Amino acid sequence: MKVVAIGTGYVGLVTGVCYASLGHEAVCLDIDVAKVAALNVGQVPIYEPGLKDRMVQAVARGKLRFTTDYAEALAGAEIAFIAVGTPTEEGGSKANTTFVEAAFASILEHHSGPLTVVVKSTVPIGTNDRLQAILEQQAPDAPIHLASNPEFLREGAAIDDFLNPDRIVVGPRDSTASQALRMLNQGFIDRGVAYVDVSASSAEMIKYAANAFLATKITFINEVASLCERVGADVEDVAHGIGLDQRIGPDFLAAGPGYGGSCFPKDTLALVDTAQVEGSPVRILEAVIDVNEARKKEMAEKVIDSLGGVERARGKTVAIWGLTFKPNTDDLRDSPSIAIIPALQQAGIHIRAFDPQGMAGAADLFENIAFQPTPLDAVQGADCVCLVTHWSDFAEIDLETVKAALNTPCFVDLRNVFDPQAMAEGGWDYRSLGRPT
Ligand code: UDX
Repeated sequence: MKVVAIGTGYVGLVTGVCYASLGHEAVCLDIDVAKVAALNVGQVPIYEPGLKDRMVQAVARGKLRFTTDYAEALAGAEIAFIAVGTPTEEGGSKANTTFVEAAFASILEHHSGPLTVVVKSTVPIGTNDRLQAILEQQAPDAPIHLASNPEFLREGAAIDDFLNPDRIVVGPRDSTASQALRMLNQGFIDRGVAYVDVSASSAEMIKYAANAFLATKITFINEVASLCERVGADVEDVAHGIGLDQRIGPDFLAAGPGYGGSCFPKDTLALVDTAQVEGSPVRILEAVIDVNEARKKEMAEKVIDSLGGVERARGKTVAIWGLTFKPNTDDLRDSPSIAIIPALQQAGIHIRAFDPQGMAGAADLFENIAFQPTPLDAVQGADCVCLVTHWSDFAEIDLETVKAALNTPCFVDLRNVFDPQAMAEGGWDYRSLGRPT
């Protein structure tokens, strides 16, 4: 089928590239001229494993192209995905849908034939209804059919998530949109992928409810980890023990420094906002947001404690391993490092840091950090290492060399990468999350 993806961020680009690599004819459109120029010479603006190779192959096979021109992109297209950003409104918690509306207005202006317009961006529940009202008001005779089709792509694993989804959720408004989406996804349906065809509002809600539930699951295990530290239990054993219950499941039970990224923080805030506006508050989620914010700051306190408390920590140096919100991405949005590092600096601590992909973006976000070219350079002369993001690079490092480069063998592991017993035997003052020291 002929598919257009509007917006070349994570979602739009992955959508265009993956449908092209499945044999459809895809066009990725962006109003950012420089971005499209870069894509046209094979440059990917984001770090996403596997994306560049697939993109280059699809372009070479004539299945994928990039443009800034709506009329050209929409000519002959059967489906247009709106995959633009919906950032949190400045100073508020609502998701800003200005870019979605602008993309829809451009579609109305430039489409030339029957078209199914699919909202892939994460939008507040009711947005599809609003676009339908705009359509009926501004172009009642236009052969445009609306649908919702949320994405569940994890950064760093987006290609695999797209090609091997747990489920596909669609919310078509009429039979034309329903048929178009079924035809596009027939290959997945034939493979037995669960295909959830519901109302547009339910599809929008599924996206928010899924992210809210996952954020809650993470926050739950983080609080259990803190309690484990008090009562002498091991959160890894607890997570294993509860995760074997099929009703709970083993995923998203890894204790960490608090969730971050481009989705969970934004989407939880937006759902809380919708719930408050509708007079049906989701108090669990309000607590999740508060606990997660507090957690990031507690991580800084953990590092300060490991340096002997506030007085002793002043003037010391901490090596930060990992700045991105998780491994295999260059994304720093709402990363725990953004809360932890300034809190340490405020306590008079000097920061050296290394991240395999995040340092270019980090240069604009942090002040007074000595960025280092390798993890070993980062620990040179530091008084403590704090592992914030579990890049595989860190797990593979020779810890004896790290210890020799440090002033003191102090290690704060905010991702439970290393084994506490082995670390203690290796002479480390090692602290992790929810495990006996
Ligand atoms: C998430 C959802 O997984 C995806 O379906 C949605 O469409 C977009 O948001 P993403 O933000 O890329 O994807 O990352 P994810 O792997 O879900 O991790 C989110 C955050 O939770 C990260 O900060 C991660 O470190 C943290 N996390 C995740 C934990 O702390 N513990 C876990 O067990 C899992």
